[in-house]
Amino acid sequence: MAQFDPESSWGQADILVAGARVFDNRCSPCHGEQGFGDGDLADVLPIRPRDYRNEPFKWGTSPSRIATTVALGRSGVMPPFRAALSEDEIWAVSYVVWRWIPEERRTYDVPEEAQRWQMPATSGDP
Ligand code: HEC
Repeated sequence: MAQFDPESSWGQADILVAGARVFDNRCSPCHGEQGFGDGDLADVLPIRPRDYRNEPFKWGTSPSRIATTVALGRSGVMPPFRAALSEDEIWAVSYVVWRWIPEERRTYDVPEEAQRWQMPATSGDP
């Protein structure tokens, strides 16, 4: 699934269903069930997760930037998921998050960039 095509593969219902399941299990405790940044843990984290719909992103709003964030974790607060999730799961959950960002603020990858995307092997904030 490393090949990004917003018109076909990313629009498939099974990817959304798979991504929503990952989000419910792994992300909603911090990010909230609908991504508003209001999960049960949000108040006790040293950094509050942002509201995907209303707040700007620090690390980019294209699918491959979101997938990089999910794989690596961020700021020592959000855990890295590259070991816990498969690459397909990372793409699927990234697509769910991407769809929540208002259309005028989210960005697309140029296809070449998405095809170059690889599960990052190291931690850090690239
Ligand atoms: C332990 C809590 C926690 C969990 C679990 C978690 N996150 Fe996060 N996440 C955060 C925090 C806190 C930030 C903000 C870090 C910052 O602003 O420096 C963040 C940031 C992000 C960002 C970056 C937004 C930006 O500004 O660019 C994305 C995308 C994201 N998370 C997606 C996910 C997804 C998808 C999952 C599940 C696979 C997940 N997170 C799981 C706490 C969490």
